[in-house]
Amino acid sequence: MEIEFVAASAAPPPRSAVARIVFEGQAQDGGIAQAVAASRFTGGKGQTLDLIAPAGMDVARLLLVGAGKAEAFDALGAEHAAASAYNTLKNSGLETLRVELPAGSVELAGRAALGVRLASYRFDKYRTKEPADKKPSITSAQVVADEPEAALAAFTPLAALADAVSFTRDLVSEPANILYPVEFARRVKALESLGLEVEILGEAEMIKLGMGSLLGVGQGSVRESQLVVVRWNGAADRNAQPIAFVGKGVCFDSGGISIKPADGMEDMKWDMGGAGAVAGLMHVLAARKAKVNVVGILGLVENMPDANAQRPGDVVTSMSGQTIEVINTDAEGRLVLADAIWYCQDRFKPKFIVDLATLTGAIIISLGNDYAGLFSNNDELAANLLAASNAEGEPLWRMPLPEQYNKQIDSVIADVKNTGGRPGGSITAALFIQKFVNNLPWAHLDIASTAWKKPSTTPTIPDGATGYGVRLLNRLVQEKYEG
Ligand code: BES
Ligand code: MN
Ligand code: ZN
Repeated sequence: MEIEFVAASAAPPPRSAVARIVFEGQAQDGGIAQAVAASRFTGGKGQTLDLIAPAGMDVARLLLVGAGKAEAFDALGAEHAAASAYNTLKNSGLETLRVELPAGSVELAGRAALGVRLASYRFDKYRTKEPADKKPSITSAQVVADEPEAALAAFTPLAALADAVSFTRDLVSEPANILYPVEFARRVKALESLGLEVEILGEAEMIKLGMGSLLGVGQGSVRESQLVVVRWNGAADRNAQPIAFVGKGVCFDSGGISIKPADGMEDMKWDMGGAGAVAGLMHVLAARKAKVNVVGILGLVENMPDANAQRPGDVVTSMSGQTIEVINTDAEGRLVLADAIWYCQDRFKPKFIVDLATLTGAIIISLGNDYAGLFSNNDELAANLLAASNAEGEPLWRMPLPEQYNKQIDSVIADVKNTGGRPGGSITAALFIQKFVNNLPWAHLDIASTAWKKPSTTPTIPDGATGYGVRLLNRLVQEKYEG
């Protein structure tokens, strides 16, 4: 998708559709007013009115897009309206989408362009027979702005963000026969071209480090487990204490010996969405040259059943020294995070750790398909995450970490067991992870509910991989830690 910013006086190019974003009750002139009067279009949020070859106008197509009340219109509103315009017109046969905003700030123009970029994401590399007339026809967008150059400057970091979200969506969309731990690590290694430093630890190194918890998960797979360490040192003092993000990267989760039912098992190719989001975050930080030191850790494994797979009842020793009784081999994400988080704090002594993981089906039962769950031992970090979530439109809801539920994960023979039964399944998973967090601020985002969406309910997110977390974390870092 090509994006440009133009002055209102610039004529729309040939074969373009004009999307005019209008407020509720906003008066229209002449023929348009007549068309509006003949419809139920009021300018309410999410409404559209599509006018083909409108009389007396020199455009092929005019789409009115409702933006709701003028006083409530904000950056997310601009994004969503522009994305809805793209979604409505993408198969129109026209080639350029011209977006006209009702209020012309530079920030809103940039966010409208971001909306089009995110909405036009498509994972089509495995479609070999799609006829050209089934592919989206809109391939460029023109956003009208009072000051086109300033709008372009405002859009530059957002274009980096869109690239990063696309990178994450690609990783999450890839099937597990293509994207296994070594291949995932390779794709992250390629980000060194952006200035990131990427280290890859294989099984031999992880054995030396004593990561029995992570390694136990990958033990039943022919694919080698990997731990990827990504560093961005953009602060003035490149040795200043970093902040850290850790992602669950289970490239396929069959459940292992505690095997999952066949129905829906294909979804478990996206059980690496947490690691995908952390990789996307590092991508955007490097592309923006963010003035901050950040460490990203990806725990990459495949959870498979075979003769060498770990068994229910096995006891593994984590890098922390704590022993874990593996009651259910399908509760593998927490086993991966236990060692990845321990390694992160042990080696980097970060200011805080945020982990992201498609951790539990129970978070979907708790919060439904729009909200991710937030668990934290620190109110300030939690508040910062919730503020970032609001600004970026990636919904997040804080959940409790009640000390007394720890008894659900007491083991008869080891320090802890990896499942706590059905009650509060997302909470006991978070409490398990907390046992591997030393005295530092930590937050855990359970994104099992938000990493993949079908059908999507947000105009900026096509069906499938959402890229959830990249925007939220980028905003957190930008607002609170860059300087
Ligand atoms: N990867 C799954 C969680 C999941 C479920 C992600 C649905 C996305 C959609 C995780 O590894 C898992 O299997 N969790 C189990 C835990 C249980 C065995 C304690 C679950 O949620 O059922
Ligand atoms: Mn599982
Ligand atoms: Zn899993």
